[in-house]
Amino acid sequence: MSEKLMHENIQKAQKEIESKKEIVKAGQMRQHYHFMPQTGWINDPNGLIYYKGKYHYFYQLNPYYGHWDYMHWGHAVSSDLMHWEYLPVALAPSEEYDDHMRGGCFSGSAIEHDGKLFLMYTGTSNHGEGYVQTQCIAYSGDGINFTKYEGNPVICPPEGVPSDLFRDPKVWKHNGTYYMVCGASRNKRGQALLYRSSDMLHWEFFNVLAESRGEWGYMWECPDFYQLEDKYVLTFSPMGESDRKAVYLVGDFDYDTGKFSWQISGEIDWGMDYYAPQSFLTPDGRRIIVGWANEWQWMSFWKDWGPTYREGWCGFFNLPREVRLMPDHTLQFLPVEELNILRENKQSIREFTVRDQNIELKAGDGISFEMKMKADLEQTDADRLEIDLRCGGEKKTTCIFDFKHGIMKIDRNHSDGWSKGISYSTLFLKGKKELDIHIFSDQSSLEIFADNYQNNHANNVFAGDNQNQILIRAYGGDVLIRDYESYGMKECFR
Ligand code: FRU
Repeated sequence: MSEKLMHENIQKAQKEIESKKEIVKAGQMRQHYHFMPQTGWINDPNGLIYYKGKYHYFYQLNPYYGHWDYMHWGHAVSSDLMHWEYLPVALAPSEEYDDHMRGGCFSGSAIEHDGKLFLMYTGTSNHGEGYVQTQCIAYSGDGINFTKYEGNPVICPPEGVPSDLFRDPKVWKHNGTYYMVCGASRNKRGQALLYRSSDMLHWEFFNVLAESRGEWGYMWECPDFYQLEDKYVLTFSPMGESDRKAVYLVGDFDYDTGKFSWQISGEIDWGMDYYAPQSFLTPDGRRIIVGWANEWQWMSFWKDWGPTYREGWCGFFNLPREVRLMPDHTLQFLPVEELNILRENKQSIREFTVRDQNIELKAGDGISFEMKMKADLEQTDADRLEIDLRCGGEKKTTCIFDFKHGIMKIDRNHSDGWSKGISYSTLFLKGKKELDIHIFSDQSSLEIFADNYQNNHANNVFAGDNQNQILIRAYGGDVLIRDYESYGMKECFR
């Protein structure tokens, strides 16, 4: 009976998508190569997995309009991580544990079990006594049509955890046992709770993997946990921590006790639009993460949902990034090498000097492009280097590399008449010979990587097509730029 309801709700969602997808396709702000929904609202990446020869993206989706509501799981597959084929909606609200207009099928993950694709997600409902979040299972033989497990929910909120702050299960398998890390809140502090199971269906609480001591918010959303070389990494998005949106911890883990002891902490991305990243493994063993290019209302940078809802959509994913461990156990986040297949119209300059006059740089059409360069710090005496992106008329987004004060900033206050704020991070260049800068620009976003892919800023910018100029200049001296390269980026979605 309820399987029928889920099927009906998926049909309804599909009908809506079919009737509006061409309008969304024609949207002016639509991305060229960042993954976005066919119609409606998208937030977290869910269930990322390489399964039976294809990459799968599932995602938090409201297919009906460009605002958050009534969560479904959208679904798309790809062979190269760049070109995506949309599949029918995978999960729709239909059961008493997940059917609510301000709830639904919340975030979760995917794993192969028994030759089938299993999804574990958070069912969110409210029957008049507040929101209740429980962990639920759905599975599929063909990787397209899913059935919700009749024994759902498989995990209920434990003692001491508010029933509306228990969500986002991420599952993995180790030595024949299934493990799951879930976001929670206890005594107003964020936690990552660890569960285990021998059959994917019956789960027991194992330990508190890690928790905030007050420094990282009251709730941890979308935790993820994985091994990287001989270390373990925990990532999460804290609620109530304004500027911190995607924290990583690196340390050691003991499968006997379920305890994680971390020594290093950092931020995956300091920009205003990077949240809830989830990881997966490629067949060649790379650990890739994908984040949602946006932020929530409780964050310091939040303005409103953005201008694109008028075009019938809102939100997209950041570019997939490869996670690498550095010798000091901090992490790097590199845009995946698959992006190279989108390159066209290469331009390069071996070296040039930047002074206090603007120099115009060329990269693709100035809207959808990739750009790389190195500032030779031994040949640089300037206080600061600035690059204006998406300039036109009075509008521009400025990247500031302030050598004097050791800070990197992206200024959105003049970007598009809508965006606001400055994202910033520490630029620690002592003893370094060069500063590497790598920029990806798309119709509605800028992703800027610097200093060994450890200083990353994802910022959405809703600039018109007349904003296509790129300018570079220095203050207080000269900067020598080496190995300048730029490319246009081919369309993936239009
Ligand atoms: C994170 C989040 C998750 C939740 C989902 C709901 O962005 O708030 O914690 O499962 O979005 O759409």
